[in-house]
Amino acid sequence: MGKTLVTGAAGFIGSHLSRRLLEEGEEVVGVDCFTDFYDPALKRRNAQELLHLPGFVLREIDLRTAPLDDLVASCDAIFHQAAQAGVRSSWGSMFADYSSINVEATQRLLEACRPHRERLRRFVYASSSSVYGDAPRYPTREEDPTVPVSPYGVTKLAGELLVRLYASQHGLPATSLRYFTVYGPRQRPDMGFHRFLRAIHTGEEIVVYGDGNQTRDFTFVSDAVDANLLALRSTGEPGETFNIGGGERIAVRDVLGLMEEVTGRTARIRHEPRAAGDVLHTGAETSRARDRLGFRPVVPLREGVARMNEWMIRYLRGESE
Ligand SMILES: NC(=O)c1ccc[n+]([C@@H]2O[C@H](COP(=O)([O-])OP(=O)(O)OC[C@H]3O[C@@H](n4cnc5c(N)ncnc54)[C@H](O)[C@@H]3O)[C@@H](O)[C@H]2O)c1
Repeated sequence: MGKTLVTGAAGFIGSHLSRRLLEEGEEVVGVDCFTDFYDPALKRRNAQELLHLPGFVLREIDLRTAPLDDLVASCDAIFHQAAQAGVRSSWGSMFADYSSINVEATQRLLEACRPHRERLRRFVYASSSSVYGDAPRYPTREEDPTVPVSPYGVTKLAGELLVRLYASQHGLPATSLRYFTVYGPRQRPDMGFHRFLRAIHTGEEIVVYGDGNQTRDFTFVSDAVDANLLALRSTGEPGETFNIGGGERIAVRDVLGLMEEVTGRTARIRHEPRAAGDVLHTGAETSRARDRLGFRPVVPLREGVARMNEWMIRYLRGESE
């Protein structure tokens, strides 16, 4: 068996995925360039923990510029998690990072895979529910229109279309997973659950964009990781796309209520106008992933929030995990 390449291995989802692959006996080459979108020290910490595990190698390279041929040639499965994430910051001058990382680097990686497509077990692309924009129905199905409402969503959709193109035109055994808001330990500091739980513990005000009635399908990180392993082992059609959701759609104001119950503390909430690019609702119809991959989310929201809260307490104390 060859090695497994995880791009964005020091990030939130990539670090969980790398650990799980190592636990399953895979050798993992983790790639990350430690971008400063959020504190790179957090990513260094994630990478450091992986480096203690047998079978993990870190390659600190930038997918936009580094030669990728030898790297790809040494691996037989690829999980492409690296991206410039975040919806709100994708407006304005930062868009250059979104397009160069999410589109151009994805194309470079796919191109490097082309000569090796017959050897590759699978190329799994981390896509996003943001490709749907304001969907015509909830839960949303994979065949529903993809009309992103943020520049981030446009670049994730472009990446997904490139993946599908290399699958249809060059036979790359690729699968795209459209994650619906992933949460759990190590979640990015710019994301809702992280901001909310941190503020509840520190007594800071929580900014909620909009009236809090917007709903999301939240996915615990281990369920998103499960979907990646199932995709690796699947034999489905190249280019298939799957919704990956947690199965419980809930309003943001109710999430805050749940966090108050779990922490035993009161949230101080301030509302600000809904930001451009934020969709009103998300909801994943996951029967395709269930039928073709065997995917079933197993962590209920209350349990996931409790697990993330335990991590947040240790994180705020500066303790290791
Ligand atoms: N977190 C979510 O809820 C969510 C939802 C939908 C989709 N996604 C997708 O899942 C993936 C992982 O997201 P995350 O939340 O873990 O983000 P993250 O920012 O924590 O991880 C991404 C990692 O990629 C690295 N990276 C960025 N550009 C790179 C480059 N050019 N070369 C090498 N490394 C680079 C970053 O340093 C970072 O460590 C992304 O593709 C994201 O678009 C995430």
